[in-house]
Amino acid sequence: MKFLALVTMYALAAAKHEKYFGWKTYIVNTTTEEQVIKLVSTGTKLGVDFLTTPNLEEEGLLLVNPKQQEELTRSLNALGIQYRTHADNIKSLLDHDDFLIKEQNKSIALRSDVFMPYDNYQPLDVIYNFMDAIASKFPTTTKLVRNSFSFDRRPIKYMKISNTNFQDEKKPVILIDGGIHAREWIAPPVVTWIIRKLTEGLNERHLLDDQDWILVPVVNPDGYDYTFTQDRYWRKTRSTNTHHNARRCPGVDGNRNFAHFWNTSDTSSDPCSLIYPGNYAFSELETSLLRDILQQYRSRIVMYINLHSFGSMILYPWLHDGSRSRRAHYLHLVGTAMADAIHYHSLHHFPGYRVGNGATILYGASGSGVDYAHSLGIPLAFAFELPGLSESNHGFNLEPRYIKQVCLETWAGIKVGVKQATKLFRKGY
Ligand SMILES: *[C@@H]1O[C@H](CO)[C@@H](O)[C@H](O)[C@H]1NC(C)=O
Ligand SMILES: *[C@@H]1O[C@H](CO)[C@@H](O)[C@H](O)[C@H]1NC(C)=O
Ligand SMILES: *[C@@H]1O[C@H](CO)[C@@H](O)[C@H](O)[C@H]1NC(C)=O
Ligand SMILES: [Zn+2]
Repeated sequence: MKFLALVTMYALAAAKHEKYFGWKTYIVNTTTEEQVIKLVSTGTKLGVDFLTTPNLEEEGLLLVNPKQQEELTRSLNALGIQYRTHADNIKSLLDHDDFLIKEQNKSIALRSDVFMPYDNYQPLDVIYNFMDAIASKFPTTTKLVRNSFSFDRRPIKYMKISNTNFQDEKKPVILIDGGIHAREWIAPPVVTWIIRKLTEGLNERHLLDDQDWILVPVVNPDGYDYTFTQDRYWRKTRSTNTHHNARRCPGVDGNRNFAHFWNTSDTSSDPCSLIYPGNYAFSELETSLLRDILQQYRSRIVMYINLHSFGSMILYPWLHDGSRSRRAHYLHLVGTAMADAIHYHSLHHFPGYRVGNGATILYGASGSGVDYAHSLGIPLAFAFELPGLSESNHGFNLEPRYIKQVCLETWAGIKVGVKQATKLFRKGY
């Protein structure tokens, strides 16, 4: 009976995710530096999608289309890299995700008091309605900004939270954003969780007494919406004005589009690539908005956190070349304190966080948001890779029942970081 019901669910969803029929994910285990380098270069040449990049301590997860599979497995064998198939038909994996999300929705519908449910992934309108509701309920401490727009003219809504209306120049500002990479669905709920904890759920006054906050849950609303309606693995923006081939391959990788060593390393000039940096820095309205916020408050923003998934990592500059920042000591200290706090609140089967220079522990990226923020003099700039569970059937697509857990533990970590950041600001770092 249960089986039949499942089959029916899948049949109904069958029209979706057609593109991913026959796609696979592979888990790879690289054990030498040489294997990592060769795999990344072969995979990049083939156009393989690295959902997490392999390194020496952590397995990688590769999303591979049917045309790439034979050559990739041949290369893996030639390089002596251990691998196993993780999912052998991505379409059915995605159908199963939809099923889980629908099932979760049923239980949510029964509880009419829920205002922003964290037991499911939410489409853009639910997130925006939540922000509207918070703004009207807390008019003295929140300001909803909605005059910036994406390429497809969606508002990029963000929230400023302060009990001094951002007028007290002596208060540091904390900036946190999510959703620059559309498919990384676990990021936006962490930001809305923080909004809630600073308004409805505020039980620590010092969070507003000691700092002001700017929170952008979905930097890339066009891409985010597209992942719900068209293509679950869409990562980039949806702009079509950056190159002549843009109708076929729209969009730019937002996290390669910032003006700090833009297009100098680890990007691809192929507009169809997942790491295409655009035809000039800040070509995208979405990244330009972050630039404007960072510049407006550059002297007060003491910590910038840019949320991604997955891989359980806290990464800091410089990402473009792996060199040591002048503030590497603070970055490492605060990063480690946040990771410890997350670890303390985490589940035993979640992978532990690693902390370090982004280019050395993950991979290089020129034109990233954290490098740009740091180049403006913002002392603490971190990219988080939130957790995924590659051991389970899923991995990239963290099951909805874990959303709340990730929000909870990440917020615990961020709070510790904020406290240290504010201390630093008082000392005049
Ligand atoms: C990766 O391979 C090494 C060497 O063969 C092995 O010791 C290690 O357990 C493997 N890691 C995982 C996660 O399978
Ligand atoms: C889940 O419920 C929300 C709120 O009612 C709705 O907007 C959303 O489209 C639903 N999602 C699915 C996959 O049914
Ligand atoms: C980006 O860098 C590559 C490699 O140096 C170069 O070929 C390409 O023209 C650059 N792209 C743009 C838009 O300047
Ligand atoms: Zn990302």
